[in-house]
Amino acid sequence: MAKIQDMEARYIINTYNRKPDETPCLVRGQGSWVWDESGKKYLDFLSGLAVNAVGHCHPDVVEAIREQAGLLIHTSNLYYSEPQGKLARLLVESTMPGGKVFFSNSGAEANEAAIKLARKYNADRYKVITAYDSFHGRTMATLTATGQPKYQEAFKPLVEGFSYARFNDLDSFSALIDEQTAAVMIEPIQGEGGVHVAEESFIKGLRELCDRAGVLLIFDEVQCGMGRSGTLWAYENWGVRPDLLTAAKGLGGGLPIGVLLAGEFLAGVLQPGDHASTFGGNPVVCSAALAVLNILKKDGFLEEVRNKGSIIKTGLENMKSVYPDQIKEIRGMGLICAVEFKKPVAKNILEKCTAAGLLINAIGENIMRFLPPLTVTNSEISEGLEIINRALKEGG
Ligand SMILES: Cc1ncc(COP(=O)(O)O)c(C=O)c1O
Repeated sequence: MAKIQDMEARYIINTYNRKPDETPCLVRGQGSWVWDESGKKYLDFLSGLAVNAVGHCHPDVVEAIREQAGLLIHTSNLYYSEPQGKLARLLVESTMPGGKVFFSNSGAEANEAAIKLARKYNADRYKVITAYDSFHGRTMATLTATGQPKYQEAFKPLVEGFSYARFNDLDSFSALIDEQTAAVMIEPIQGEGGVHVAEESFIKGLRELCDRAGVLLIFDEVQCGMGRSGTLWAYENWGVRPDLLTAAKGLGGGLPIGVLLAGEFLAGVLQPGDHASTFGGNPVVCSAALAVLNILKKDGFLEEVRNKGSIIKTGLENMKSVYPDQIKEIRGMGLICAVEFKKPVAKNILEKCTAAGLLINAIGENIMRFLPPLTVTNSEISEGLEIINRALKEGG
């Protein structure tokens, strides 16, 4: 049989930076662990990029998928389906009572829906302001919303009407708002841009600014939502509420989902024919998402996420005091955290960690990001920190 790496090189467009001799080919997962084709075991501190929130193959998620797959795998949105309604009810009642949802298949699509809704809400307003270092997706509108020129350069002209302000700088947003501004969209915790957490005065000020200017506030919680920050949604940490909220990744327990939640006054803006998705709200995916949400809603679950987050943060802060020449800053909240190095060693550390059986992620040359499953145990955290410590000891 052809080697998997050779098949991929021959048949898959090379948009991911996989290295045939170094990148594992994963064949199985359980809890916080994954195994490659040779049987080598890895502690997964990346969770499929914030997707496996309740770990790999959680029994409740597996059971929900099995049961629904045996009943009905797909039906178009021309018909009703029960899992979709149940998931919508749970999301709305626990997040935006009186509001409504639109289901899609990814984070980018959830953000596309948010942008379309914001533009339709007020015909005189079409502009959208986002933050530098943000990440909102790869479709043309969400790529334009993503305030990182390196992703945009090759695909110009971009979509009209987007501009960028500095994250955590209220004046920078205020300066861009005018009578044609439809929405401000931010990640309360920027993930892909290097794990930057919103300051309280900034996020509260942004809410007030949007209210004064009649501008919708969209929170993209595709990465930082679904319990990752230690509350169901990151915005709860500051007590501010968005008008539109997007989520994806962790919600589906590994199956593709995206959701836009719209507050009550926005719930009727999109009408039949305005927007659609063939697979959005798929019954199997919605059943998996219901299982995930029910796990997150169990008593004490999110408190545990906060406890585990502070154990990781303390461990990393200790490393910073041992290696002050290497580590510049530790950032994060709950189980989304990052280490910024003083030198471009992130790739080197990543390779050492992978070889030692720990999956992490490098952002650019200086930043290392951790997104372990929310179900990670304290002893797995110690194991992961020890591997990172050894990589740093060897000089990064
Ligand atoms: C904050 C945020 N928004 C949107 C997206 C895009 O999600 P997807 O890759 O599911 O389209 C991502 C993906 O990393 C993200 O982190």
